[in-house]
Amino acid sequence: MARTRSKNRLLLFLIATAVVLLFIYLLYGFEGGLLSYLRSHVTHRAQPETIISVLKLILLAALAYLIVRALRALLFNLIFRLKRGYEAPTLARNIFSIAAFTIFFLLIFSELFPQVNLGALFTTSAIFGVILGLALQDTLGNFFAGISLHADRPFQVGDVISVGQQRLTGVVEGITWRAVKIRTFQNHIVLLSNSSVAKEAIEVCPRTNLNARLVYFNTLYTDSPAKAIHIVREAVREADNVSQKITPIVRIRNLGESGIEYEIKYWLEDYARYNDTDALVRQRVWYAFRRAGLTFNFPTRTVELERKSRTAITESDQGPLIERLSAVDIFAPLSAEETVTLAKTSVRHVFAPGEVVIRAGDAGSSMFVVHNGRVQVQVNENGRARPVAVLNEGDFFGEMALFTGEPRTANVVALEETEVLEIGHVAMKGLFETNPDLVEALSHIIAERRQGLADRPDGGPVQDDESAGIIASIRRFFRLS
Ligand code: CMP
Repeated sequence: MARTRSKNRLLLFLIATAVVLLFIYLLYGFEGGLLSYLRSHVTHRAQPETIISVLKLILLAALAYLIVRALRALLFNLIFRLKRGYEAPTLARNIFSIAAFTIFFLLIFSELFPQVNLGALFTTSAIFGVILGLALQDTLGNFFAGISLHADRPFQVGDVISVGQQRLTGVVEGITWRAVKIRTFQNHIVLLSNSSVAKEAIEVCPRTNLNARLVYFNTLYTDSPAKAIHIVREAVREADNVSQKITPIVRIRNLGESGIEYEIKYWLEDYARYNDTDALVRQRVWYAFRRAGLTFNFPTRTVELERKSRTAITESDQGPLIERLSAVDIFAPLSAEETVTLAKTSVRHVFAPGEVVIRAGDAGSSMFVVHNGRVQVQVNENGRARPVAVLNEGDFFGEMALFTGEPRTANVVALEETEVLEIGHVAMKGLFETNPDLVEALSHIIAERRQGLADRPDGGPVQDDESAGIIASIRRFFRLS
């Protein structure tokens, strides 16, 4: 699109240059003829020579204009962008064009009208200059403020700025003769006159800088600060647009009336998206609180909410969980009583879209069943995540580390808000002892998933000795006879 536009512009420029050159050629070539024609036909007071000179002035000025355009494109588009790596400001381009054109024009004028004394013309127009100056006071003020903004370069296009006491905030879209143009976070365009910007205090958050934000939260006095700080820091550090270069800081800012008040300081990749990122950080805090059994300090709700948000499963919750667990194929052989016990000992966790449930390489002593939502299994390859599988409601994961004692083999990431049931080592050990077939069923699944991880999903049927090896390691790890 931009390419076609610049092609069209170039074509237009070439056509205009050709036309102007043709007229200049014709005017100079047929000057004598035109002069005698004018002498015989023009009865007006104007001298035919003056008419010719004015025509020449117009055509040469047009040519000068085209030359200035070409020079400007060469200087700013090619040299400036290539050397400096960013676009030259509009104001600088315009100043260049006007200065170059004025010089060309004055040279042409003095060549065509040597009898006119330009110096005198300028000096005698002092009164006119004063009148003009007064009339243009604001415009000139903006113009010079614009020049000083360009010289100082306190901010650039793409930076976020907050101006004045009103703290008018937005992303800088351009700096022109008259004004700084910003796009606010409500997607409105605001024009701030250069002179007012030059007078006001400006907070600049450069695009290339790692800018920080503060987000606040609080907990009950009964919640351990060390735990809250750790949980929140881990939940926030991997959120989208939170810089990986600096670990977020979580610290207590006040011991308030009804709870401990904290602040999270985090750094953003793209500061212009801070509203969304603040919101995501708060969302992550909520989910992390929910999983860790921490509670925000809303006094009247505190006690009840804590009980409810605790991950232990209450009587009324059990029905759907028993249903969910009995639908998981590996648990099919369990008796009704065993499924109920399993449901009672499982722990519910909820994850936000994009949150990591399991991280490859971590140690793990539990497995998970997807109760609601969906997760994606990913392996890290050359620093990029390769999706291996998507697991839906009723599927399980995390069994490899749980049953073999090896580190987690893959990342498992929530694709949407996902609730999982966590089943621990102890609960599984009891089941293995009463259901020896369970070990075999699991060994097959683990062997198949290992093939998927090695990127050979159709690597043929699982070999018996592969399964046998897994069975042996499960037995060893769980100390089964
Ligand atoms: P674990 O190694 O404990 O942690 C990562 C989990 O991802 C792993 O257990 C499996 O449950 C799951 N996983 C690994 N590979 C696959 C696969 N190919 N298909 C489905 N799930 C898998």
